[in-house]
Amino acid sequence: MTAPVAVVFDAYGTLLDVHSAMARHADRLGPDWAVLSAAWRAKQLEYSWVRSLTGPTQHRDFAVLTDAALDFVATRHGLTDPSLLADLRRAYRTLSAYHEVPVMLAALRAAGIGTAILSNGEPTMLAQGVDAAGVSDLLDAVLSVEPVGVFKPDPRVYALATERFGCPAAQLAFVSSNAWDAFGARENGFRVVWVNRTGQPDEYGLRGTVIERPDLTNLQAHLA
Ligand code: LAC
Repeated sequence: MTAPVAVVFDAYGTLLDVHSAMARHADRLGPDWAVLSAAWRAKQLEYSWVRSLTGPTQHRDFAVLTDAALDFVATRHGLTDPSLLADLRRAYRTLSAYHEVPVMLAALRAAGIGTAILSNGEPTMLAQGVDAAGVSDLLDAVLSVEPVGVFKPDPRVYALATERFGCPAAQLAFVSSNAWDAFGARENGFRVVWVNRTGQPDEYGLRGTVIERPDLTNLQAHLA
């Protein structure tokens, strides 16, 4: 196996911990905060897929959908404090990176391997997130779906990565914690790493066809 030209990462859930926003305000949300956080994430993704399938006129950016998903969860679960909701919206713009991310990205760069994000995120939201996580200097490119106006796993999104690096998908590695995104990347020809942090069962027949890792530690050793 030769080293990839670049490693392309999903952002939300893969480099950035989407549950860190509610975790920061767990004392105000109560003991069910993790259930609320999972519901927020699930609605955010549902909205992205429904908007993509409904057609181009119905596209809304991921920042708008993230806020709409929080509004739904707040109404559904009786979260009424406007300052808490504002703090949660802000926290989602400055999510924590998983602790092993900076060292892992630095190691890839030291080995001459490119690094990028390819995310559903809207560009400003992504720039804020990458800055807050302290990894902007460790990334060669931060690619948003916005130029194509559709969300993953649409093939037009994955093509943004091959266009950016000017090579076939097979020469790029794609890394995601989201099984559906790993599947999309695999079907578009990338060498895929599925980061299965919580020991989820196989989905989409990924197991055995992609590299499966429990986290991002020492990622480079599994790519060369
Ligand atoms: C992203 C979402 C899928 O960053 O997590 O693209």
